[in-house]
Amino acid sequence: MISRYTYGSCIETGAVPEKPEIEAGALPFFVVDEEQMTLTYRMAEHDRVYGLGENLRGINKRGWIYESKCTDDPNHMEEKRSLYAAHNFFVVDGSETFGVFVDYPGIVSFDIGYTKMEELKIQASDWNLDVYVITGMDVKDIVKQFRKMIGRSYIPPLWAFGYGQSRWGYRSEDDVREVVKAYRDLQIPLDSVYLDIDYMERYKDFTLNQETFPDFPDFVEEMKKENIHLVPIIDAGVKEEKGYPVYEEGIEKGYFCKKEDGTPFVAAVWPGRALFPDMLNTEARNWFGDQYRFLLDQGIEGFWNDMNEPSIFYTEDSLKAVMEKIDTYKGKNLDLDSFSEFQGLVGGLSNNPEDYKAFYHDMDGVRVRHDRVHNLFGYNMTKAAGEAFERLEPDKRILMFSRSSYIGMHRYGGIWQGDNKSWWSHLLLNIKMMPSLNMCGFLYTGADLGGFGADTTEELLMRWLEFGIFTPLMRNHSAAGTREQEVYRFGNTAGFRHVIGLRYRLIPYLYSEYMKAALRGEMMFRPLAFDYPDDKYAAQVEDQLLLGNELMLAPVYEQNARGRYVYLPETMKMVRFKEDGTMETEIRPAGHQYIDVELTDVVFFMRPDTLIPLAKPAQCTQDIDFEHLELLKFVQNEMASYEYYHDDGYSKDYENPEHLSLLFSTTEE
Ligand code: GLC
Repeated sequence: MISRYTYGSCIETGAVPEKPEIEAGALPFFVVDEEQMTLTYRMAEHDRVYGLGENLRGINKRGWIYESKCTDDPNHMEEKRSLYAAHNFFVVDGSETFGVFVDYPGIVSFDIGYTKMEELKIQASDWNLDVYVITGMDVKDIVKQFRKMIGRSYIPPLWAFGYGQSRWGYRSEDDVREVVKAYRDLQIPLDSVYLDIDYMERYKDFTLNQETFPDFPDFVEEMKKENIHLVPIIDAGVKEEKGYPVYEEGIEKGYFCKKEDGTPFVAAVWPGRALFPDMLNTEARNWFGDQYRFLLDQGIEGFWNDMNEPSIFYTEDSLKAVMEKIDTYKGKNLDLDSFSEFQGLVGGLSNNPEDYKAFYHDMDGVRVRHDRVHNLFGYNMTKAAGEAFERLEPDKRILMFSRSSYIGMHRYGGIWQGDNKSWWSHLLLNIKMMPSLNMCGFLYTGADLGGFGADTTEELLMRWLEFGIFTPLMRNHSAAGTREQEVYRFGNTAGFRHVIGLRYRLIPYLYSEYMKAALRGEMMFRPLAFDYPDDKYAAQVEDQLLLGNELMLAPVYEQNARGRYVYLPETMKMVRFKEDGTMETEIRPAGHQYIDVELTDVVFFMRPDTLIPLAKPAQCTQDIDFEHLELLKFVQNEMASYEYYHDDGYSKDYENPEHLSLLFSTTEE
């Protein structure tokens, strides 16, 4: 059951397409303090708290304070409180079990046992919120009700389930050709290459560098013949430049965000001075969406939206003020205090909270200061694209994922998990984030495999891919200036071929699981506790996940580890794919146990009476033979079965019942 409570006058976020009626009674579970703008719940000792989508720390969120404040911060460390997204949905599971969604587009904090161990306190920066309280049979049921309320998750084309290679630094057609050739020559499967900001002319959206990408439509075509999709990046900031049509038209029509005095707000991002299209204004949003046509017309079928928190390096006004202040330091003896102040001047320029108060949106006639709706910007940039794709390419599925997001954006695109680092701890963070993102409707997601910032190692990349082959978005991406991270830069080609190859064998299963999760509002990845609610050990597990109803994953995420402890909540069949092409299976009893996992072994566990369809090896999604599937089986009782979803991966008749079939087997043969 879902109940809605309203405080103040809410700004429409669009997260909930059809809102339930407002409840007259008092908000259950919480103590409401209108003056402090807080909602407080007293947690019982063993209550667990799940959710908050893209955020730091554990699967069980208890023990820290989190903030919904979309931020471009590349240092995803334990001490941080927020990442790029605002996903205000969580479930308390324990003496009482209920879900809460705080639909509020400004900054909100979730103190879950940080200030006081037993207290969960939600605080909004403005008393204008819609609060939904959801009760149900169990956590899965609560999540399902929530997902139904926020609408169906985005569905990408089948090729987007293939492996993608990316790097900030592919500067020309030849750079891309070299990547594709290396993969094809070594017979390591690949479906896409991502184009980072280097493809644009001086970092201008919807332009191409004519010197380095001179025949773009031909090049796109050439790549398609190789079964490679090119996926260009689009940034939120539009370069200020006379004669650049996107800028000129945006200015002429008044589509950019404005300062209080009505003049355009100028902030700097990659191209230097730039303007933000008013994504919260319907007309401006439609206009921005229409710009994607420039690349769609040249054969592009996928994009990633970036810097849309929005990220601000500095604003014209703040830079001027800092420059003037710096002048006053000339000739001064800088002591501890004045030197820190001096350092802070420049350091404080980027993503400065004051700058987010300095511009306004025209929400279809209502002027709203940006900070009040900050968390809706990236969402609406992606909505701009998603709605435009429906208008411009109604019969096609276009790949779209974004960096920043709010709940509701999951209907228009997926997300990647932002600028992580090549750290083992970030592989673990990637694992932990999958279920919380699924809870909030974000199914098409994954992290930069191998790590974006800092230098990776062959071992870290191998282990990360061994997990990444299960995430819907499977992309190896790295930052300019870091060690080159394409798998062929490392020694063990056979190992990488084997791991990535297995992804392609699993695609019939992964795609089927994705589609069922999207169409039914279910989670593809779940913590063990969701399926084994009465198992006190399962509740503690933070580094294993359930995938679909069939698999349990127990990834290796530590340097030099050649195995790990795993908890089995019931008897399972351990399946091990080895680099030499062999597969070993072993029935393992319930309980805690140590399993060996050699560096290139891919190990997973099958739950009793399940089947997994497996395809023959393929070099790209186009070549996957969906007609001749092998079945991995674990028949413990009389019969194992699998509900298999299969369509052409491109059409949009998702709900057609013909896409579903039942596979079953009574023997393991
Ligand atoms: C941002 C993105 C990253 C990209 C870079 C350059 O940091 O998060 O993925 O490579 O910008 O465009």
